[in-house]
Amino acid sequence: MEIPKEWHRTFFKNPFYNPASRPALAAAPAEAAFVLARLKLKKGSALLDLCCGPGRHAVEFAKRGMAVTGYDFSKEYLKEAAGRAKGKHVSIRLVRGDMRRLGFTREFDAAVNLFTSFGYFRRFSDDIKTLKGAARALKPGGLFLIDVVHGDFARANLKRRDWALLGRSYHLEETAADADGIYSTWTEIPAGGGRPVSKSFFTRLYNKERLSAALKKSGFKPLKFWGNFRGAPLSEKSDRLICLAKKIQ
Ligand SMILES: C[S@@+](CC[C@H](N)C(=O)[O-])C[C@H]1O[C@@H](n2cnc3c(N)ncnc32)[C@H](O)[C@@H]1O
Repeated sequence: MEIPKEWHRTFFKNPFYNPASRPALAAAPAEAAFVLARLKLKKGSALLDLCCGPGRHAVEFAKRGMAVTGYDFSKEYLKEAAGRAKGKHVSIRLVRGDMRRLGFTREFDAAVNLFTSFGYFRRFSDDIKTLKGAARALKPGGLFLIDVVHGDFARANLKRRDWALLGRSYHLEETAADADGIYSTWTEIPAGGGRPVSKSFFTRLYNKERLSAALKKSGFKPLKFWGNFRGAPLSEKSDRLICLAKKIQ
């Protein structure tokens, strides 16, 4: 499977993919509430939503009194985030950039990275650059909450081919795995005829041990793990891996 090196540049585009699907939008308020309960931030705290996408969590954080900065590479999603904030009568700062090159220093009380917005690079050192940038962006003792697909669950439940009818398109997912992660190709086939569109991507898989090691290498101390946004303990049955970590000063 051929994966473009910088696949994120072309993958995160409408109409091929948008993380603010109807179920994802419906889940965002409860997920944001879970995150804020774990971060225990005062009103007005500076919160970085790293890879905020179309801002579905960022607006919820702002509605709950946080001073939110949303950071993402996708121009389209940032525009959507700005519209969503306007629609909800909240203000958020939106910054475009690459997660490997975060330019903030000791600015935030906390940072979040949600919905597997991490592990996209073929070089592990790029993941470490991202985490080090997040650590640098935090004030001393600042908290970081990361939510990724649980690598152990993803490996145990890997489907080589999976079909679904999504709206007016057939959606085919083809997936292979190696020791580093998963290699996927998604193909959208318009149900009424038309050209299929395929895009491929890589996700480095993290379990508790691997994520802990990466966080420690980047200046964080992992504090707690959960297996979903209802606060279930992490187990081999968890499809999510959520970790709260603290910046080591
Ligand atoms: C799965 S989406 C999740 C978005 C958002 N956190 C959510 O839950 O709706 C991943 C996001 O990461 C962004 N992204 C991908 N590669 C990036 C990079 N190198 N630098 C910054 N953002 C990136 C994408 O544009 C996309 O918005």
